[in-house]
This record gives sequence, structure tokens and C-alpha cells, in this order.
Amino acid sequence: MTQTLIVTAHPHSGSFTGSWAQETERASLATGGRVSRSDLVQDGFDPVERFEHYASNAGHDVLKCQEQASQTGRLPADVAAEIAKFQAADRIILHFPIWWFGPPAIIKGWCDRVLANGAMHTSDKRFDKGLYRDKTVLFCVSTGSRESESGPDGKEGDVRMLLWPLAYTFRYLGCQVAQPRVVHGVHGYWKGREKVKTEARLAALLYAHSEVIEGFDQLSLMRFNPDDAFDEDGRLRAGAESVTPFINHI
Ligand SMILES: Cc1cc2nc3c(=O)[nH]c(=O)nc-3n(C[C@H](O)[C@H](O)[C@H](O)COP(=O)(O)O)c2cc1C
Repeated sequence: MTQTLIVTAHPHSGSFTGSWAQETERASLATGGRVSRSDLVQDGFDPVERFEHYASNAGHDVLKCQEQASQTGRLPADVAAEIAKFQAADRIILHFPIWWFGPPAIIKGWCDRVLANGAMHTSDKRFDKGLYRDKTVLFCVSTGSRESESGPDGKEGDVRMLLWPLAYTFRYLGCQVAQPRVVHGVHGYWKGREKVKTEARLAALLYAHSEVIEGFDQLSLMRFNPDDAFDEDGRLRAGAESVTPFINHI
């Protein structure tokens, strides 16, 4: 049975983001799967990594704090609970709006704390050898900006690039990452006919979302270079293909 972890980052569960996550849950259950949730804002998740979370500051070294706590079974309880949900999941689906050209800070803080050194990755177990090669991650994202503004030539910058650092974070853990689902032009400032049209468009998107969940295993995946595309200095080899503007030939 497929286990899905839904992670949301929004202060209002009745928002478009919240409603979309609700559809993910409904459709996942309808296909016979199980669902767990991390509603980070509603759960009061603390996104700030600090030494007070640990028994020792390990010489003021955060990576060592995480490693020691992982090895001794003394990770903070909230982090351990998130890790357990992550490890039990086949699919991790994150729902969030774009805030200031990236995911909301609570998502970054969740990564900083939950993707703990030792428990979730080690220097030997990352990228191609990551611990979570059996998992697929999907981002369901809304933007206030229009589609035309959010592409490679758009004034807001290419939303797929804005999402790339988060995608690469999961790639670091070994996960597969599906091409993100992005819904544009989501905000409460539409008026009159435009408002009605937007509400109808968003309602149709929510209605059709069950097809995304039903076809989850066929979603196209983001491409990442395999480990052997890089030389011993970590540079993309001359003959290797660049699959993202983030890692390019000079
Ligand atoms: C703090 C903040 C920053 C935002 N920054 C952006 C941005 O950089 N780009 C963008 O397209 N929309 C931005 N928006 C608009 C949100 O993306 C939009 O309100 C959201 O996607 C609507 O979905 P929701 O109803 O689920 O919140 C921002 C909104 C807030 C509150």
C-alpha cells in the first residue's frame, strides 16, 4: 500500500494551498493509499536550527550536533517524528506558495532540521548513493504572478529555477523528484469577471488533481547528473551533458 507524506506550509488551511493539499489527501486515500501529514505552520514546527535543541553543541558545529544526536538516538522529538513520517513514506508531496522568489522559510527550516546529518544522509550516502532512492517527491506550488511572468524569460524569474535548490536537496538524499506542478495567478486581488474566472479555473484544477495522484508513478521526473558526470574536483566533466542552468559548462 502506498504511503504518502503531505507537507504543507501555509498559515491558512482554507487557502488554495490548503485546499490543494486536501485534494492530494482525498485522492491518495481514494486510490487505496495511506496518508500522513505535516502541516508545519498549524503544527507549530520550529524551523530554526539552534544548539538548544541538542544535549551538546559539539564544538558549535551543527553538522556534528546532528550526527551525534542521530548516532545516540537523541534527535529532538519533533525532528525524530518528522523523520519517521518521511522514512515510512513512498511519496512526499509538498504544498506551498512561492514567497519572495522561493518556498516559505518554514520549508527551508524543515530541511535544515529534519534532513539531519547522520540520520538522513552521510558523506558516503548522498546523491546516487542517497538513502532514499525508493522515494519520489512532488512539489505543488502556487504563484501570485502570471504564467507569462514565471517562465525562463519572465520578469519574476523562471519558477522552475526558483524551485531547483529545494529539488536538489531531495536529490542529495537520493530521492527522485517529479517535475513540479505550478499554478499561477493565485491571489485575492482579482475583481469582477476576472475573479469569477480565476475561481472557476482553480476549482477545475482542484477537480482534475486526482488524475495527477492516480498517475503519480508516470509523472515525468526532473533530470540530475549522475555522480560520475563530475570529476574528482566535483566539476562537470567536459563530455557530460548539462541538464540544468545551475550546473553548466563554463
Ligand atoms: C510574503 C509573500 C511573498 C510573496 N512573494 C511572491 C513571489 O515572490 N512571487 C509570486 O509569484 N508571488 C508571491 N506572493 C504571492 C503568493 O505566491 C500567492 O499569494 C499564493 O501563491 C496564493 O496562494 P494561497 O492562496 O494558497 O496563499 C507572495 C505572497 C506573500 C504573502
